[in-house]
Amino acid sequence: MKQYNIHQLLQNPILNEPVTVHGWVKTCRTSKAGITFVQLNDGSCLNNLQIVVQHHSFANHETIEQLTTGCAITATGSLVPSLGKGQSVEMQATAIILVGAIEHPASYPIQPKKHSFEYLREVAHLRPRTNTFGAVTRLRNAVSMLVHQYLQDSGFIWIHTPIITANDCEGAGQLFQVSAQHKESTRDFFGHPAYLTVSGQLNAEAYCLAMNKIYTFGPTFRAENSNTSRHLAEFWMIEPEIAFAQLPDLIELSEGLLKYIIEQLLTHHQTDLQWFNQTVDPTCLSRLEHLCQHAFTQMTYTEAIHQLQHSKKTFEFPVQWGLDLQSEHERYLSEEWCKKAVFITDYPKSIKSFYMRMNDDEQTVAAMDLLVPGMGEIIGGSQREDRLPVLKERMQSLGINPEPLQWYLELRQYGSVPHGGFGLGLERLLCYITGLTNIRDVIPFPRTPNHIKY
Ligand code: 4AD
Repeated sequence: MKQYNIHQLLQNPILNEPVTVHGWVKTCRTSKAGITFVQLNDGSCLNNLQIVVQHHSFANHETIEQLTTGCAITATGSLVPSLGKGQSVEMQATAIILVGAIEHPASYPIQPKKHSFEYLREVAHLRPRTNTFGAVTRLRNAVSMLVHQYLQDSGFIWIHTPIITANDCEGAGQLFQVSAQHKESTRDFFGHPAYLTVSGQLNAEAYCLAMNKIYTFGPTFRAENSNTSRHLAEFWMIEPEIAFAQLPDLIELSEGLLKYIIEQLLTHHQTDLQWFNQTVDPTCLSRLEHLCQHAFTQMTYTEAIHQLQHSKKTFEFPVQWGLDLQSEHERYLSEEWCKKAVFITDYPKSIKSFYMRMNDDEQTVAAMDLLVPGMGEIIGGSQREDRLPVLKERMQSLGINPEPLQWYLELRQYGSVPHGGFGLGLERLLCYITGLTNIRDVIPFPRTPNHIKY
């Protein structure tokens, strides 16, 4: 017999022939008339399949009595139009196999009631069984596939940059060191200090300067001790890199990519988005629609500082030119001033990384951050310094040892071209999409300071 998932069956019901489904029981209740109603979910969609068990036509009563929230079953039966509210079809079961029972139903951690996000983080191995985490998981998958779709359709080639690296791309010293546990030797495995990558960018640049348009999409790691709702020690980043390109090209690509992802979600993933609209953030759908319908704003860092200084707001971090924008400033700019997504460009060189291209004023670099209401920065990128003498001078003034980056400097000696790229944080984007305010709730097993249970 062909097996279907619940999403397929609810989309295109196959009526009047036996079908089999597998899943986990959400709820189970028995009426006085001797009918048991099981709500079954298999992760394929938010909706459950209602399974109706008529006790009088069912020999195996023992199994029915053991059905509780959380247990795993295989159910076979026919789909029929449902008389009840909330579903168009239901299954009249002819056989139910209890595949995995719940040991102590009263202490099963995911009871059919509302749980706080804090509580669910403590049971991260079971939280995908809740509606919210099921929906996040499907949206995370959809966004990842849409990223590939958009970039592939635009002629980008996906490359796999290394996870273990010898360099600190951002130069911020927030590295996790990697070492092998040799009993007999304390020598570095690579004969050189090695780290988990903070960004695939430097390696991506090498490939961009041969393949034109490439991207890397994988996990990145930061040992920053920021226990905030926007930072993870392990997060996923999408990093496109384009040759023969300047800052406006990067801005255009960022906006095109984000709008494509969100339009597709609105078209094909309404049910999950509606769940967030109903239970997490009532502005979720209108916010996403607004993002697609309006051009993003652009302003330079200098203009942003001017706006902040004239905002009549008191900020915890006083505003002056040269300040690294804090979350309170980013929120003001995107939520109160522009009221939409805004690119801030041309930051002071003193607060940005060594690889960013120096502008003609020699004070600012061709950088861009995209700020969105509710989340702040979700994209950070720049045109890269493609002029060898300027790059060398910048590294020297920042005290960066050129030795380990010889290969990177060589890229400027051998066929250098204007190029640039950006990093889009997958989890920040998912927070923006769902309205979830804590980044720990959009990644399956979050890694944060003092937290690595799984
Ligand atoms: O601005 P960042 O640090 O840029 C880079 O790493 C560049 N090398 C990317 C590039 O140009 N190829 O990070 C880019 C994005 C941020 O805008 C944010 O969305 C996300 O990565 N991000 C984090 N997300 C979660 N937790 C953290 N600790 C993050 N740090 C950055």
